[in-house]
Amino acid sequence: MAKGLDLSAAHILVTGGAGFIGSNFVHHLRREFPGARVTVLDKLTYAGNLANLDSVKDDAGYRFLKGDICDRDRVAEAMRDCDVVVNFAAETHVDRSIENAQEFLLTDTVGVFVLLEEARRVGVKRFVQVSTDEVYGEILSGEATEEAPLLARNPYAASKIGGDRLAYAYFATYGVPTIVTRCSNNFGPYQFPEKLIPLFVTNALEDKPLPVYGSGKNVRDWIHVADHCRAIVALLEADDTEGMTFNIAGGNERSVLEIAGAILAHLKKPATLLTHVTDRPGHDRRYAIDAARLARATGFQPSVPFEKGIADTIDWYVSRRDWWEPIRTGEFRHYYERTYGSR
Ligand code: NAD
Ligand code: TYD
Repeated sequence: MAKGLDLSAAHILVTGGAGFIGSNFVHHLRREFPGARVTVLDKLTYAGNLANLDSVKDDAGYRFLKGDICDRDRVAEAMRDCDVVVNFAAETHVDRSIENAQEFLLTDTVGVFVLLEEARRVGVKRFVQVSTDEVYGEILSGEATEEAPLLARNPYAASKIGGDRLAYAYFATYGVPTIVTRCSNNFGPYQFPEKLIPLFVTNALEDKPLPVYGSGKNVRDWIHVADHCRAIVALLEADDTEGMTFNIAGGNERSVLEIAGAILAHLKKPATLLTHVTDRPGHDRRYAIDAARLARATGFQPSVPFEKGIADTIDWYVSRRDWWEPIRTGEFRHYYERTYGSR
């Protein structure tokens, strides 16, 4: 077992750092650890956006590398002299995984293998595999602890199990100091507008229908992205967390209809925008996780109250049309047409 890390002068590789949570994590590191070096490795898929990293792009101690985590040479270049790896790189959208799972398997499973091989060779001090609470499948009552069976029901979640268990296997087999985190649904700034909250906010701002899948009674636990970032840092700084898996929960169970209602109320838009559409195949009814292990190991508790977090997030999208309008007029338009056109 090992002492926690001092991140103040560490070199941290953030893979997937141009996406939603990764870019929030980079901003968090720049603010909290200005002496740390940060390398971002990102393939810049449809979900990766350099605009998310605009404010740090000229910082000393920050570097961006475009590349695929499945590419061994690019990964070796990115991981050179690294102390810490935090892997956010993934294909992340359930509906896209239902349409075609291939990229999910490649990035979310094989890509993690490539990263772990290089981490083993380099001898990094800690490697965080950012997994998801979706690996448990739907939790109809109670809360899943880290010992609950992994009963993923969609191709995204199944692919994430591959990376999640490989990270543990590399600890158990080779002693690579991996930590696996399983967080619940994040919300906040820079989330790609295919996910529930930014999709509904941006549709409402354009007076377009909010497509509720099925009954709208499906429940997720919601956490502000800033709290997710703080929890990961707490696990890097804590003693003896390697080889362990940690749930990260927000403690805010809300149904889709409750989320949609909050968005419409905040934007003063009519409930007539709500439209029930054909349900998602294999739609998990509820996710809920027990994060007591994380609290015991680090003392971490989420700090952003849901009502404040969602209000601030909606206001961010209201004020950042410059960020989301170009996205919604690009590839996204075709995706939207395919996914919702005849639903
Ligand atoms: P996102 O889709 O916004 O960003 C993913 C990023 O990874 C993008 O910048 C993309 O360009 C990059 N990427 C994709 N494939 C790549 C590859 N092969 N090589 C290099 N880069 C690649 O995703 P997000 O919501 O920020 O999620 C980040 C991580 O957190 C993912 O691993 C996801 O499974 C996990 N997670 C997300 C949530 C959530 O609610 N968003 C909850 C729990 C866990
Ligand atoms: P999503 O943001 O895709 O995250 P998850 O990975 O948890 O599925 O969806 C969150 C919830 O919102 C989920 O129950 C599906 C539902 N949903 C809709 O009802 N309509 C939509 O257009 C989207 C994208 C999601």
